[in-house]
Amino acid sequence: MKITIIYGSSTGNTEAAASQLSKLMPESQVMEVTDADTTDFENCELLVLGTSTWGFGDLQDDWESALDKLRSANLTDKKVALFGLGDQDSYPSTFVDGLRPLNDAAKEAGAKLIGLWSAENYDFQDSAALEGDKLLGLALDEENQSELSDQRMKNWTEQLLNEMGH
Ligand SMILES: Cc1cc2nc3c(=O)[nH]c(=O)nc-3n(C[C@H](O)[C@H](O)[C@H](O)COP(=O)(O)O)c2cc1C
Repeated sequence: MKITIIYGSSTGNTEAAASQLSKLMPESQVMEVTDADTTDFENCELLVLGTSTWGFGDLQDDWESALDKLRSANLTDKKVALFGLGDQDSYPSTFVDGLRPLNDAAKEAGAKLIGLWSAENYDFQDSAALEGDKLLGLALDEENQSELSDQRMKNWTEQLLNEMGH
């Protein structure tokens, strides 16, 4: 199964998570969103998109300018999974909000979202990434819960492979 992981990262945390996730997913390739073109979004079976959140609930900068590229890709029925880096202690009302615009753009492009993730075991007040009691994707918090990240990534990767039927 060809998996492409595309990320945007300002201080390296999302980049490190992308690289770690890639090790857990056989046959995956990783690229920074600034290097990705439309065909990179399209030419894979599973597309994994990662972003951090900045300002108060803003998408990571490089993604801001790449969102149109994602929106205009042909992702009809393609499985897409999202992961987001955030800080639930300093930004408890906008925790991993950046997942929402990625979700909306991918859905506009025709994608089917997989990899929804329980919001339990986090401590935040609100997030634009909430869909009922789930988050739109894996949330990682290197500021407050870095010790949980490895296991979260392992569990999420297994969940994705199961949802893909592998
Ligand atoms: C100025 C600033 C604003 C931030 N705003 C948010 C926010 O609104 N929500 C959130 O969950 N995290 C927020 N964060 C935390 C970052 O998303 C977090 O540090 C993340 O790991 C950075 O990942 P990156 O290095 O890949 O960009 C903010 C951090 C800074 C320094």
